[in-house]
Amino acid sequence: MSSQFHPDNTESINPSSNETIRDVIAEFNGRRNFMKGSIGTAVLASMGGFSLEALAAGYVPSPSPTNGGIGFTGVPANVAPMTDGINVPAGYTAKVFIAWGDAIGKTGPHANTHWDPSTAMTAERQLTTWGAHNDGMHFFPFPAAGAGGIANDRGLLVSNHEYVDPGLVCNTLTYATDVITKPMVDAQLAAHGVSVIEARKIGGEFKVQRPSAFARRVTGATPCKLSGPAAGHAMVKTAADPTGTNVLGTLNNCAHGYTPWGTYLTCEENFNGYFGTTAAKLAAQPLTAHERRYGMSQAGFGYRWHEADARFDFRDNPNEANRHGWIVEIDPWNPNSVPVKRTALGRFKHESAIAAVGSDNSVAFYMGDDEANDYVYKFVCANKLNTKNRAANRDMLDHGTLYVAKFNADGTGQWLPLVFGQNGLTPANGFNNQGDVLIMCRQAGDVVGATKMDRPEWVAVHPTTREVYFTLTNNSGRSTTDAANPRPQNVYGHIIRFNENGGDVRATGFQWEIFVECGDKLSANPQRQGNIIGDDLGSPDGLWFDSDGRLWIQTDQAGDATGNYANIGGNAMFCADPATRQITRFLTSPIRCEVTGVVTTPDNKTMFVNIQHPGEGWSGSFTSRSTWPDSGFNGPTTQSANGVAKPRSATVVITKDDGGVIGT
Ligand code: FEO
Ligand code: CA
Ligand code: CA
Repeated sequence: MSSQFHPDNTESINPSSNETIRDVIAEFNGRRNFMKGSIGTAVLASMGGFSLEALAAGYVPSPSPTNGGIGFTGVPANVAPMTDGINVPAGYTAKVFIAWGDAIGKTGPHANTHWDPSTAMTAERQLTTWGAHNDGMHFFPFPAAGAGGIANDRGLLVSNHEYVDPGLVCNTLTYATDVITKPMVDAQLAAHGVSVIEARKIGGEFKVQRPSAFARRVTGATPCKLSGPAAGHAMVKTAADPTGTNVLGTLNNCAHGYTPWGTYLTCEENFNGYFGTTAAKLAAQPLTAHERRYGMSQAGFGYRWHEADARFDFRDNPNEANRHGWIVEIDPWNPNSVPVKRTALGRFKHESAIAAVGSDNSVAFYMGDDEANDYVYKFVCANKLNTKNRAANRDMLDHGTLYVAKFNADGTGQWLPLVFGQNGLTPANGFNNQGDVLIMCRQAGDVVGATKMDRPEWVAVHPTTREVYFTLTNNSGRSTTDAANPRPQNVYGHIIRFNENGGDVRATGFQWEIFVECGDKLSANPQRQGNIIGDDLGSPDGLWFDSDGRLWIQTDQAGDATGNYANIGGNAMFCADPATRQITRFLTSPIRCEVTGVVTTPDNKTMFVNIQHPGEGWSGSFTSRSTWPDSGFNGPTTQSANGVAKPRSATVVITKDDGGVIGT
């Protein structure tokens, strides 16, 4: 990712003097070296069962983490000259399943009407078709007869649509200088959000069920509710919604989550980029500290929606932006349900929201704020999961405690509660109620002393041990002059993991360690070589455990196999063994795309993977960089017979040719 429409977020807008994760890791490594020197290798070897890291850091590994068996032969890196398509290991097949603009099967006259990508997208067509720039997704299996009680051949595939490329949507090579009209804005709003489709195995192969009563689009204009402590707060009231409870739409739907009670969570990330105003209005009323902390700016990311729709002019409607940046809960099983923005989980640039259910049915959700030097969060529900009555869990996300993470140098960590009246979250520091704390969540994290992280992206929770993994994608803006930091410019990122004290998802303390420092073994710079066992990668983003405990890692860098990525190649998906830390490349992707979003059927035999923004950064022609997927490289698409008009984000379906479990 390097598009202006979805910036890298590598520039810190955190003014606090809180400790950074790099400071903590530097201390951690100093301590580890001390342990190495003072104990000696032979003594350590005699202490079988304890890793050096565990001794040095107080980190307690999970008991017997399982990997379910990893047996494929990795694919080569997609280095220059790049292949413009997906490659998977021998014995596997990847085929395009659905692409931007393909019919979702919504009941009605357009159940089978696909968009023609040689034309401009319209709001009307987009409301019955797959959205743009697909990101995280989840597969909700249908109930089935038999031991498992859930189907492997039929489910709701629910996907986020993070952002849009306005030129591709509006069919123009000159968007930056075009006159922006309301229909152009409406088409882009409609391309965001979430799609729900019914995926069904027909004749041995998964297809989109068209029509399906479940097919649905939630967009940047769909009526949503605000609930929880910040609903109705003065900062979320607008002229159009004086109650502060009815919001139009969800935007920048990155990564994802789902709940143990069967609902989908869409996560609003870079909402700030859609808002703008005129230079004159900004001169008359400069940015507030609150607006700066959330990255508001006169031009936004260049969408220019505010020129045709006053909702996105943050001087005409200064509170509209406060109504975005939330976790939004959607019931995929009820196409008429109203999406609910759950304010108790805080407002920031949400990446994913992944649940852990304790042995006593306590529930916690782990979340990251994807900005350089922003924070890692946890929300603990006040109520326990009701496993007998789904409806009883409906408002679990309105009641509970939000925490932000502090990582200590000794390998321990603390969850600091973001509760009004505690830890300095008081009127003296600008907080007058819990709504203030949640709407100004970043500032609350600053006050309580959270640890500045290297851009938290996805979270994954091990299916049996509940060990929590976070991708920290990179933080290349970090100063090179700080001699105390082992990797002063974290261009390749790392993955951190932690266990809650006592295995309790409600714990206020944890033990952490670095799972892997990403890098390029061939780099001339030792600080950039990383410590990967296996295939090199950088900028880890998507992260997901399958039910057998294989850890799947997806990357998001420029994807053109140049510069820092000449050896690593384009973006890819890897399978990691949490016990041995072996990492093997499973999938390579088209040119200039991001690999983001992965899920399997419950039996792990069918995998869905999202490919986002192939060919990004085109110039002169939409296809100047990529012709995927309509090139037909990964099987026919709805448009491949018509020739290639534009590169399109798409979902692919991966199967093992012998019908076995993916990854074995
Ligand atoms: Fe949208 Fe942080 O990735
Ligand atoms: Ca991401
Ligand atoms: Ca990304």
